[in-house]
Amino acid sequence: MKQELIPLLPELRCAAKAEPIGLYLHYPFCRARCGYCSFASTQDQRLQGPILERLLGDVKAWGQVLTRPEVDTLYLGGGTPSLLELGELEALGRQVREAFDLSPLAEATIEANPGTVDSTWFQGTRRLGWDRLSLGVQTLDDVLLERLGRIHTAEEGLLAIQEARQAGFQRISADLMVGIPGQNLSRILEDARTLVDAGVEHLSIYLLDLDKDCILKGDVDAGLLHLPSEDEVADVFEALQEELPRLGLPPLKRSWRSCPFWGCGCTGASTGRPYATAPRTRASSPSWKAGRRLWSPPSRRVSWCGKGAS
Ligand SMILES: C[S@@+](CC[C@H](N)C(=O)[O-])C[C@H]1O[C@@H](n2cnc3c(N)ncnc32)[C@H](O)[C@@H]1O
Ligand code: SF4
Repeated sequence: MKQELIPLLPELRCAAKAEPIGLYLHYPFCRARCGYCSFASTQDQRLQGPILERLLGDVKAWGQVLTRPEVDTLYLGGGTPSLLELGELEALGRQVREAFDLSPLAEATIEANPGTVDSTWFQGTRRLGWDRLSLGVQTLDDVLLERLGRIHTAEEGLLAIQEARQAGFQRISADLMVGIPGQNLSRILEDARTLVDAGVEHLSIYLLDLDKDCILKGDVDAGLLHLPSEDEVADVFEALQEELPRLGLPPLKRSWRSCPFWGCGCTGASTGRPYATAPRTRASSPSWKAGRRLWSPPSRRVSWCGKGAS
């Protein structure tokens, strides 16, 4: 544990006992790096095992430090948690249950990339207790998906929703991206309608934001791709604002995890007082031990969502 954390422990323990906390688990591994993404994630397969081991260790250690607090929402994000096999998810679930008190658990969300899932995985995750899915659809335009460097097609995005529903997921959120070079307004509205028709009950709308170290930024700087203007992006948000209530979703609201939660894993940062004060992300990174850099610098993200947390 980092020395700076020790004086904070009484306050952290007290807060974690006062009311149930949200628990965020971070799995920073992806099959391939998308062209726009600079999230903390590695594609080095040799690190896949150590990352899970370290996450399990982190969950155990923080459960002990916080004296097994109650958890009412659980979120497994990435990277790409859908690359975890069912046996690995089972081991993770077992560790979480041991380290934290899940008796008030109201919701357990797992993130998935449509290019990494099938009906067996969805059935297994439902059986293991995950009841909400956050799916990285991004767009239903295959040309744009390829431009973004995604590993799936639009058809696979829709198939994933269908398979998840068949497996019993009733709460499915889809990530959609606004501001992709070449994307037009009517396309985004059409995607939103198609996703809602397919059974999605929540949309997280991300505004494309390119850090200097991502592949697409190089293409934009070289003049090979053109980002939409701020006015064009604002028009899209206005149109979505009008359209979403017609689709049965509440109007967009800006969201950045408004409730306090505790984060475990390589960059599973915590937010909300007093959790955000915990200075420990680097020390818990598996790459820390391996002596190499695993993550990219944190970057600004704007997430807009329909309902619930994104
Ligand atoms: C952790 S990922 C979701 C799960 C999985 N990794 C995937 O991409 O399918 C969370 C979301 O962040 C968004 N995102 C990532 N990098 C972004 C960027 N540079 N600008 C805007 N949104 C971004 C994407 O929409 C992505 O679905
Ligand atoms: S967008 Fe998702 S799948 Fe793509 S590199 Fe980032 S975290 Fe991985």
